[in-house]
Amino acid sequence: MDATEDAASRRASAPPATSGLFRQALLGRLRPVEPLEALFDAATRPPLPLPPRLEELYGGGFGLPDECLYGNFVSTIDGVVAIPAIPRSNTLVAADSEGDRFVMGLLRALADVVLIGAGTLASSPKGTWQPYKVHPPSADDFAELRRRLGRPERVEVAILTGRGSISPEHPVLEAGALVLTSDAGAARLEGALPAASTVVGVGEEATLDPRGVVEALLERGHSRILSEAGPHTFGDLLGARLVDELFLTVSPLLVGDRGHLSRYGLAEDVDFAPPGLRGRLVGIRRHVEHVFLRYEFAGREPSAR
Ligand SMILES: NC(=O)c1ccc[n+]([C@@H]2O[C@H](COP(=O)([O-])OP(=O)(O)OC[C@H]3O[C@@H](n4cnc5c(N)ncnc54)[C@H](OP(=O)(O)O)[C@@H]3O)[C@@H](O)[C@H]2O)c1
Repeated sequence: MDATEDAASRRASAPPATSGLFRQALLGRLRPVEPLEALFDAATRPPLPLPPRLEELYGGGFGLPDECLYGNFVSTIDGVVAIPAIPRSNTLVAADSEGDRFVMGLLRALADVVLIGAGTLASSPKGTWQPYKVHPPSADDFAELRRRLGRPERVEVAILTGRGSISPEHPVLEAGALVLTSDAGAARLEGALPAASTVVGVGEEATLDPRGVVEALLERGHSRILSEAGPHTFGDLLGARLVDELFLTVSPLLVGDRGHLSRYGLAEDVDFAPPGLRGRLVGIRRHVEHVFLRYEFAGREPSAR
């Protein structure tokens, strides 16, 4: 849901943490951030060492296992996460929530790697998938959290593209990203990507086994994986039972549906019913008119991890 960065950037195109007076002046113009209201919290993960301001804004402590794959989506009331015909539709779907941008930043700050797919990359031409970018008022606290966790300042970004159908000009590739692809995708991208980016071969076929994708990230030492990928990648991850948790923001909007593929739900091209894939509700928070749900998933195959 990185198109939300565009909205955040329009409010305050804040540079990274230590940029002094300019940044302070900029942040002073932003309206103050109100904490999320914790309505229900049954999460059992051991708490992480959040700086006090992040804990206050989140409305309590926050934990995640060292090794996990967690997804983040924002959806409308009627379950829509993207409208393919509308560029950067998730800005529309998100319905301008500072709480959502804060949670997105917090989830990024905790990650070793943010995984996106080619569709999400294309829909966010300026996306960075960095925590400070999506919620500038918390930039310093996100940086401090990463220091406390012993993580590098910049979160690694991994892009899944079986066919190699990505634009080499995207700025996230200039900054340096992992491109997870097939043999054909690697051949297509050969010599085209900026030197800062790395192509990682995950398999021969254009449709890659999501287990291989996760293994490739684990092999590179990325054990806390945040998926900000779109519904096709996320559907694959859910289908392979690789998802441990889902953080789902529900915006106070309905957008309807014009028929086949005019809207995406959060898991496309995958069929779980019957009986359906069941999550365990472990958190409900509220920020103004947005609701923040947290689900845990059981039943993933340990062999894949
Ligand atoms: N509301 C939200 O929270 C939210 C979050 C994320 C994204 N979105 C929106 O979702 C839309 C994009 O949806 P999407 O489903 O197309 O995005 P996506 O899942 O990020 O990207 C899909 C692409 O990822 C690659 N891929 C996925 N699974 C693969 C597999 N098993 N093997 C090989 N490659 C695989 C393919 O790339 P190739 O075709 O190159 O092989 C595929 O076309 C955008 O509008 C975006 O803004 C919304």
